Amino acid sequence: MNPTILSGTRSNIALAAAALRRGEIVGMPTETVYGLAADAGNAAALAKVFAAKGRPADHPLIVHVANTATAKTWASVWPETAQKLADAFWPGPMTLIVQRAAHVLDAVTGGQSTVGIRVPAHPLALALLKAFGGAVAAPSANKFGHVSPTTAAHVAAEFSDSNLLILDGGACDIGVESTIIDVSSSRPRVLRPGRIRSDDIEQLLGVRLSSVEPTEAPRVSGSLDSHYAPRTKTLMLVTEALNLFLDAARDAGKRVGLIHYSSQLSTKRVKQRVTLDGNNAQQFEHDIYAKLRMLDDAALDLIVIEAPPTDGHWDAVNDRLRRASFSSR
Ligand code: TXA
Ligand code: MG
Repeated sequence: MNPTILSGTRSNIALAAAALRRGEIVGMPTETVYGLAADAGNAAALAKVFAAKGRPADHPLIVHVANTATAKTWASVWPETAQKLADAFWPGPMTLIVQRAAHVLDAVTGGQSTVGIRVPAHPLALALLKAFGGAVAAPSANKFGHVSPTTAAHVAAEFSDSNLLILDGGACDIGVESTIIDVSSSRPRVLRPGRIRSDDIEQLLGVRLSSVEPTEAPRVSGSLDSHYAPRTKTLMLVTEALNLFLDAARDAGKRVGLIHYSSQLSTKRVKQRVTLDGNNAQQFEHDIYAKLRMLDDAALDLIVIEAPPTDGHWDAVNDRLRRASFSSR
């Protein structure tokens, strides 16, 4: 068994659409991360997504559709806020949580009364949705809790033990998952930060976003303490603590991989080092998952990440890295 990576030709799109119609799952590029797509109206197909990912059955999936008109058919209520956000940010890296329409399967919503919907901007995702002629539910195409994939090769590596068809849309433009905005109640809330920033949303809507209290947080698997995580033990450290820590780790004979942006670090301390731009949050978002995967494959004892800056532009990066480095041990 081996996954097949297909270039985005017309006939391959038709092939992938036919697989979706047969109830198969397909690796689908989006502008954020790759998704594992299945017919959102087919319970047996959805079950394959959960089985392939090893994902708990009560964790909801995002429904991907080709346009806002179709999105509305998955909602029982379409608030004005949803329309404004859709007009501004779709197609694009935004998921809206709204009250579900009656036909939406429990497998999609995790049995909740709401559903997550998004219109992706990647041309191949849109072409696949049009060729399929329906909606696909697609979580990120990784095993549960692991780093999300941003290339077709990452998807193939995640599901190497399968016959998965993967449409190759190149490296994802954005690199972190969509911003999730809950507009199912009167005060909109950001459940997961992403490329579309809280500032942008507040400016558009002219309201302050309410923050989510941990106790009332809905079931968002991406909001688990540990998620988006490499298999190698991963730590995040503030800049000031890095040099001392790396010296101690080297003296203890640890093979360390480092992701950093500050320049005052000596190379001798680590086995592998990745330097990212600490002045460019978007480039950081674009690169971070691929770099985490590369280090995860390098047989290291430890991955150390220099804690990124903390202003609003870095919300998505900080959110993912906090969870990638969370350890209950
Ligand atoms: O960018 C993305 O959103 C990617 C691409 C493939 O579109 N998808 C993605 O899916 O990140 P996934 O399943 O890995 O993460 C979706 C998140 C999960 O944390 C899930 O719990 C949350 O969306 N979600 C989905 N439906 C929800 C709902 N009704 N209420 C609250 N959270 C929901
Ligand atoms: Mg995910």
